[in-house]
Amino acid sequence: MSDKKFKVVICRDLGPDVMPILTSRKELDLTIWPHQTPCDRKWLLENIQGAAGVVVMLSDKVNDELLDAAGSSLKVVSTMSVGYEHVSLDALKNRNIKLGYTPDVLTDAVADIAVMLALMAGRNTKETMHIVDKGEWANHTWSPFSFCGPQLSTSSLPISPDFPRPSSATKVERTVGFLGFGRIAQATLARLVPFGVTKCIYSTNPSSTTKPSDRSVDDALAERIHLPKGSIYRVDQQMLAKESDVLFVLAPGGPATYHVIDEDFLKRMKKTAILINPSRGTLVDSDALAKALKEQWIWAAGLDVVEGEPNVAADHPLVQEPRCVILPHIGSATFETRLGMATLAAQNVVAGILGAQMPTELVL
Ligand code: DGY
Repeated sequence: MSDKKFKVVICRDLGPDVMPILTSRKELDLTIWPHQTPCDRKWLLENIQGAAGVVVMLSDKVNDELLDAAGSSLKVVSTMSVGYEHVSLDALKNRNIKLGYTPDVLTDAVADIAVMLALMAGRNTKETMHIVDKGEWANHTWSPFSFCGPQLSTSSLPISPDFPRPSSATKVERTVGFLGFGRIAQATLARLVPFGVTKCIYSTNPSSTTKPSDRSVDDALAERIHLPKGSIYRVDQQMLAKESDVLFVLAPGGPATYHVIDEDFLKRMKKTAILINPSRGTLVDSDALAKALKEQWIWAAGLDVVEGEPNVAADHPLVQEPRCVILPHIGSATFETRLGMATLAAQNVVAGILGAQMPTELVL
């Protein structure tokens, strides 16, 4: 048996539970970026030379420059992410290099945070928490309509002038919209069913216009998550903007979805609408969104991603908006999920190098 070792570069220490997947393999010779900061590009370009595999993060660009530096020994790139906008797929394909990524394991964590952002944005959390943090609660005593926002759950409003009893209350239904309707969007919708959501509209890609729903697929999903048949359907983007009370942007990044939420889209939305983006910052035109919030075209926004992140300073127009809740890309940040992602990233690189089936390979 040959005792040749395969060089593997790891752009972040994956922690004590996962590193043994790599360190226990006698066939591998590991080179690990030694700091808890994004891997330095110069270090990576120098160290990747002669590697058979590399484990990268979202912050590491995988392009011709990197692949040239690696040379012809490189067999597999494994990214600890479900998104792969940082990876040039063509460059990998041309060189016959495999790509591992981490789908599924983060679906629940991101769906959780999507709902959390919808609640936080709608209910004025940014402004009100700020008041408490600054010790100014006493200046804002409870009053009938202070800090109100649109309710996420279906509500019953006794709005008749002759004081109806609750039995004759009028239901205010909520329509949730999804731009992109993959696993995370569907998991988000399932979480909203107990809130009383009864209508879901979606659009699956920016150019989709009037393509009708695949009824049987949409109805099967509705049945699975306890919604009535016919309550989930595809619409064009204009309808999506016009009808959604809460719009979740849950589509991949990249050129096809660049600024799909622009001024025109935002102007079509309801004044009470809430925009949530837990996917990629590039889908939303930040300047247009800041204008929409300032001029109250929409009610609020909740973002886990912002174009240009992590360089989003305190004077960024969106950070300045009191109804724009922004989190620093923590959608998948639960212990369980990150452990799952790191495990898949390690297993993918090992399998790819040793010629075994990778647990989650993106077929190029
Ligand atoms: C991914 O995996 O692409 C996520 O954005 C990380 O949270």
